[in-house]
Amino acid sequence: MSESIALLPQTWKELQTDVDSALTRYLCLDEDCPAGLREAMSYSVNAGGKRLRPILVLLACEACGGTAEAAMPAACAIEMVHTYSLIHDDLPAMDDDELRRGRPTNHVMFGEAMAILAGDALLTTAFQVMASRVQPAKVAAECCADLAAAAGASGMVGGQVADLDAERRLPETANNGQDHDAQRSVALLQSIHRRKTGTLLTCALTLGARIARADTQTLQLLDHYGRCVGLAFQITDDLLDVLGDATKLGKEVGKDTEHGKLTYPALLGIEQSRAQAAALVDEACRTLAPLVERGRRLEALAHFVLERDF
Ligand code: IPE
Ligand code: IPE
Ligand code: MG
Ligand code: MG
Ligand code: MG
Repeated sequence: MSESIALLPQTWKELQTDVDSALTRYLCLDEDCPAGLREAMSYSVNAGGKRLRPILVLLACEACGGTAEAAMPAACAIEMVHTYSLIHDDLPAMDDDELRRGRPTNHVMFGEAMAILAGDALLTTAFQVMASRVQPAKVAAECCADLAAAAGASGMVGGQVADLDAERRLPETANNGQDHDAQRSVALLQSIHRRKTGTLLTCALTLGARIARADTQTLQLLDHYGRCVGLAFQITDDLLDVLGDATKLGKEVGKDTEHGKLTYPALLGIEQSRAQAAALVDEACRTLAPLVERGRRLEALAHFVLERDF
């Protein structure tokens, strides 16, 4: 486990355990849910994962003076949306991956039709959990609107479309962002990463802050932190596809190159990609300054995003 996470006063593991047991509670489906669908949904949710987005919801809520208990339904809702996005991302029609969270991917286990439907059901269950369990109802409605915007056509789904569209469209002369074409590609890449990964990560911060009834200034501050950490997170994801270890990551490596994906290392090289991720994490931490002590755990989490190897 990374050193920066060990610095979190309440360990990452404890937070993960809390999220895991709440997910099991909230995923309690009635007898009209076909057994096969229940199994496929639980399979991917219970496969673990870092639980970064729910932990961000909890930490943001606490940083704004709220409780983890109040934030837990939103934390689980965003993890359900994220898990659905992974199931669909791995489908043969998308990234065509066979390993996820250390297990065969959902469609490998249950078939493509069930994987698509398990994803659909996780997405809708997420909104059921958010709408019915976040209190008061007005805040629940705001949270549903935030999550829908972040996950939808101009957010994660839009980013996934742009990601697929950009496959095999790497400029032949990618030369450290110096020429006009490369600069345009960096702008395109940033826009893909901002939508496919950044919006959901940023939303995690906003949800936590909303539930704690944070003021507008704090919401904006956390939104900016989320944008920086979100992009840094996807840059490190791109780097780990080149440099990482499949066993530690629980997913295949080298797939971005195989698919000709537009990624940071493909466009800017390893060193420049690392430098950009580090600069974003620095900026994220500077943004937290007004929160003083209340921002410490979010600061540690930003460093984890940079240093992670899983
Ligand atoms: C993987 O997300 C997909 C990206 C947005 C890069 P995570 O790396 O957070 O995956 P899990 O949840 O830990 O499995
Ligand atoms: C996926 O990005 C982002 C999602 C919305 C799921 P990637 O395709 O790079 O994620 P991994 O590398 O498969 O986890
Ligand atoms: Mg993908
Ligand atoms: Mg993928
Ligand atoms: Mg990736």
